[in-house]
Amino acid sequence: MSFMGKTFQKNIKALSKKDSFLYETLFHNANGYIGVRGTLEEGVPADYNTMRGTYINGFYDIVDMKQAENLCNFIEKKETMLNIADTQTVYLSVNGESFNMAQGTIVKCKRTLDMDRGFTKRDVVWKSPKGDKVEISIKRMTSFEELSLFTIEYKVTALSGNVSLMFSSKHIPEVSNYSDPTDPRLAAESPKFISVVDDGISDGISYALCETSRSKLKCCSVVGHEITDKKARFCTAKDEDGAMTCDVMSDLKKGESVTLIKYSIFTDSLRCDEPLTAAKEKMKKVLGNGLDYYYKKQAEYLENFWGGSMLEIHNDPKMNEAVNFNMYELLCSSAKDSFGNIAAKGLSGEGYEGHYFWDSEMFVIPYFVLTDPYLAKMLISYRYRTLDKARENAKLLGHKRGALFPWRTITGVECSGYFPSGTAQYHIVGDIAYAIVNYYLTTGDLDFIKECGAEILIETARLWLDVGNYVNDTFRINDVSGPDEYTCMVNNNYYTNRVAKYNLIWAVKFFEKLEELNMAKELSSKLKFSKNELDEMKEAAEMMYFPKFGKDGVIPQDDSFFDKPVWNLKATPKDKFPLLLNYHPLHLYRYQVCKQADTVMAFFLFPDAVEKNTQKKSFEYYEKITTHDSSLSKCAFSIVASKLGMQDKAYKYFGNSAEFDIRDLHDNTSYGIHTANMGGSFMAVVYGFAGLSINEKGISIAPFVPDKWSGYSFKIRFMGSRIRIDVTKEEVSVVLEEGEAFAMKIYGKKTKITKKKTVVKV
Ligand code: BGC
Repeated sequence: MSFMGKTFQKNIKALSKKDSFLYETLFHNANGYIGVRGTLEEGVPADYNTMRGTYINGFYDIVDMKQAENLCNFIEKKETMLNIADTQTVYLSVNGESFNMAQGTIVKCKRTLDMDRGFTKRDVVWKSPKGDKVEISIKRMTSFEELSLFTIEYKVTALSGNVSLMFSSKHIPEVSNYSDPTDPRLAAESPKFISVVDDGISDGISYALCETSRSKLKCCSVVGHEITDKKARFCTAKDEDGAMTCDVMSDLKKGESVTLIKYSIFTDSLRCDEPLTAAKEKMKKVLGNGLDYYYKKQAEYLENFWGGSMLEIHNDPKMNEAVNFNMYELLCSSAKDSFGNIAAKGLSGEGYEGHYFWDSEMFVIPYFVLTDPYLAKMLISYRYRTLDKARENAKLLGHKRGALFPWRTITGVECSGYFPSGTAQYHIVGDIAYAIVNYYLTTGDLDFIKECGAEILIETARLWLDVGNYVNDTFRINDVSGPDEYTCMVNNNYYTNRVAKYNLIWAVKFFEKLEELNMAKELSSKLKFSKNELDEMKEAAEMMYFPKFGKDGVIPQDDSFFDKPVWNLKATPKDKFPLLLNYHPLHLYRYQVCKQADTVMAFFLFPDAVEKNTQKKSFEYYEKITTHDSSLSKCAFSIVASKLGMQDKAYKYFGNSAEFDIRDLHDNTSYGIHTANMGGSFMAVVYGFAGLSINEKGISIAPFVPDKWSGYSFKIRFMGSRIRIDVTKEEVSVVLEEGEAFAMKIYGKKTKITKKKTVVKV
């Protein structure tokens, strides 16, 4: 089986409004630090929708959030991810006529995402209105080797006769964000965020240092060019509108080609003190190394990535393409340092304004923990970096102790303006704790727990002590919202109480473990953590209350869930979905109707908390009232269906989740990919179909193969080792590829995983 050849392609007959916007997302370039939408260098016609964005992970400005009734401690400001500079624009004129996909004739056009070599490409054969035929091939890359680097390699070949070409390559430092006042998932307006404080051109290299209007952060873009035609004429100058343009003229005879290479470097003041100096130095280095060096490094990086993160479906190329696309996009979207995290839309668009949610902990960290634990650690380190802000946030909400992580944020402050389905989702605190425990149980990295994990766990556990209260010897958590955003401000949400209990238990466990090893002193004096508080945590965990089962043995989502009428989903017209865009939230809250997996998600996280039969009944109940209006839902249903033995359902939910973005199933991928769902689709195979489970008892699998497949293979890391698992309908084989041998249960039987393949018959 070959793991090479991971490409995703689209043939384009004619420019279309819908597709060109969608392809800006599907063919975007990102490396976890910068992201550039896959817009066309020459632009699109004025009546086309386009989001011409370039983003830096974690780089933001502050905007006012007007509260109509400004009650005590409501949030009045929020952060928004910024579009920083346009270095994508390159105009081309062919014998005086502008190349543009909407005019002349597109003889051929193909867009490619090459996931092995880490670039996107647009290959066009274009006939100008006057009849000159040229082949245009444009390759773009955001480098994993030099995270600040974005490149465009623009090659033109004369096909029909001699042509005079003129490239006008732009560097536009002052740009604005995309906005849509009609969609709550996008920013309603875009003020001027960025102003140039210093710019210029030296030795043909243009630079611009910009400052944001309120966060006062600086970002810098530096642009340099190379051209393969030695006789080409170059000129870089500043235009009246503030943009800097590099004009290049080149004459080609029939059959000849010329290539313009555009290097852009981006830096920011979050990560370096002197972004301009740093960017200029990087440009010098990059020009010295040359583009081929970065292509080579890019391929090596990805060879290494796919070597460790492989998931292959044996006889379903379409699904295979979809899962690989998702894994690749996660790598491209996730921060490589702790200054950023992974936004709901990655770095592919401005949906949700570049905010980080629980998506990171519950859907993306589980993927990286198994494939690249370092990146999981970075995502957790970001939370640690923002722990003080979470402490402040807790105070703002009236808590006397603990840390309340915000529902959506960039720097760690709450950016959710609508608290019932925002701030009230306290479960995020337990989700973060859960992810840290997951990281620990999979890697065994106790040092990290000592350095920051235990502190987060104790502070989040403290929060639960402050939120909850005792009623008849049970510990209750009132007025919170669970993951399901169609049911808000409830008492004792089952999911929330489960993660809270786990959070309390593990805060105690970590502390006691560190104490045993004589490693807890510093932590307890830093946090003034006493034996009394430890006991309080033990007690609250033990006394945690869960809503009483319904008559039919179904677990209620919260205390009052079953008191509400059931929403008639069958009678709801198709055009009324997603419900959130068509019904007042308060109306939705009064019905049994779910946006996404909530109680069902808890079954995945805590499979042993209640009997399987109860889980099955509950699953079937929630299935009927869940709209899956959130992209985080179907993957969770898939995993739980697998765990409960409902294989066909598991497959159906999985397919939908896997293809969500690559086939634009919700018709909104144009605003950005859905990173949580991408992690979820990986989890649906590995935790779902393969039945992976990692807990204190160790690691186990119990795979099945969905009917439509002949088998699948994947690799995961556990305790520093890497294994490969191949599953067919007849057998499961596991082999150690790297690291030490360890024990694993396969279908309940303990087996030692070594370099010699272990084969178990199904
Ligand atoms: C979902 C949330 C999710 C957010 C960002 C919302 O639609 O309901 O659970 O965190 O999107 O992905």
